[in-house]
Amino acid sequence: MLPEAKAAVCMFYVIGLQLKADMAKYAAIMGWGMAVPPRVLTNAELERMVETSDEWIRARTGISERRVVGPGESTSTLSTEAGRRAIAQAGLTPDAIDLIVLATCTPDRPFPATACTVQANLGITRAGAFDVAAACSGFVYGLGVASSMIQSGMARTILFIAADVFTHYINWNDRNTCVLFGDGAGAVVLQASDTPLGLLSCQLKASGKDEDLMAVAAGGTRLPITAELLEQGYQYVTMQGREIFKLAVRGMGDSSLQAIADAGLTPQDIALTVPHQANLRIIEATAKRLDMPMDRVFVNLDRYGNTSAATIPIALVEAVEQGRLHPGDNVLITAFGGGLTWASAVIRWGRP
Ligand code: ACO
Repeated sequence: MLPEAKAAVCMFYVIGLQLKADMAKYAAIMGWGMAVPPRVLTNAELERMVETSDEWIRARTGISERRVVGPGESTSTLSTEAGRRAIAQAGLTPDAIDLIVLATCTPDRPFPATACTVQANLGITRAGAFDVAAACSGFVYGLGVASSMIQSGMARTILFIAADVFTHYINWNDRNTCVLFGDGAGAVVLQASDTPLGLLSCQLKASGKDEDLMAVAAGGTRLPITAELLEQGYQYVTMQGREIFKLAVRGMGDSSLQAIADAGLTPQDIALTVPHQANLRIIEATAKRLDMPMDRVFVNLDRYGNTSAATIPIALVEAVEQGRLHPGDNVLITAFGGGLTWASAVIRWGRP
């Protein structure tokens, strides 16, 4: 064997041993934080913008108001604020973070990753940083990715953020979509733990053949933006709501049951379900499918609408603040979104 090859094999074993030595079984949630823009957009204001009514929006979606970014606000500014709060809440300083993972489908720019902007904003110098895109399922997908990286030994302390500024892609003349979405960010700090805390099971699913049920058609490499496409509104999100509704209930229901079984639990063992906040009727139908009473389901979409990847971490933060989450609780999180993607996971709340 050539000396270079021998050295490479040696290095491989050293890295392998290092990974093994640092491997932790679990990634506990040590801190949490959220951020939403101050600007509130009410149903009454939307009544003045499109042909809709407060009554229709509340009856069909459960949403009363949502937050919308203003000048100077973006995915990175909301992410930075949520991340700062999560790190402080964990009792850590930025230099403790060795990786930043950011789930978003509305990055600040096509590249570089918004996670890198957040890294700079927070003054975290030694961490790696990258984005994960799974639309509204981004929190569950990203939690799976980040937890696995801790379990493999590649990182010990991760700042995981889920954030979207979906209103950037909204056509404010389209009543089918403009009433549904809001902007926001939520973050958690994950840390290696040998106590069974954090992610216990995770189901990630996708159906790319349904990609057009919800999409922004232009602006990427397949269909670069032109003045003509802009004129025709190809830069906005389009959605077949009724189809998505049905698939969401089935996808979230089935993957939730599988995630609960994978964790060695039954639905009765779940203290609180924190679902993606897109539509109250979707949440109620999913809970019914799981035979889960609504008093064990957390809902806050009336005040924020659908903040895409951010709905679950924002809901987790509010659930803790309202005393609905306690150390040792088994929590089901489940989401559905563009891709199509859907995902469910069971987490155990609490710090070691
Ligand atoms: N105000 C008044 N009327 C409206 C509005 C509105 N804002 N929006 C639609 N309507 C009308 C429709 O035009 C339709 O009228 P028509 O019967 O004359 O054609 C009527 O209301 C009923 O429309 P439906 O689409 O059948 O209404 P539905 O009860 O399905 O509710 C909704 C629509 C709220 C969009 C629902 O289907 C839904 O929530 N779907 C899921 C969408 C979703 O969650 N998408 C996000 C995925 S997550 C992600 O990746 C970011």
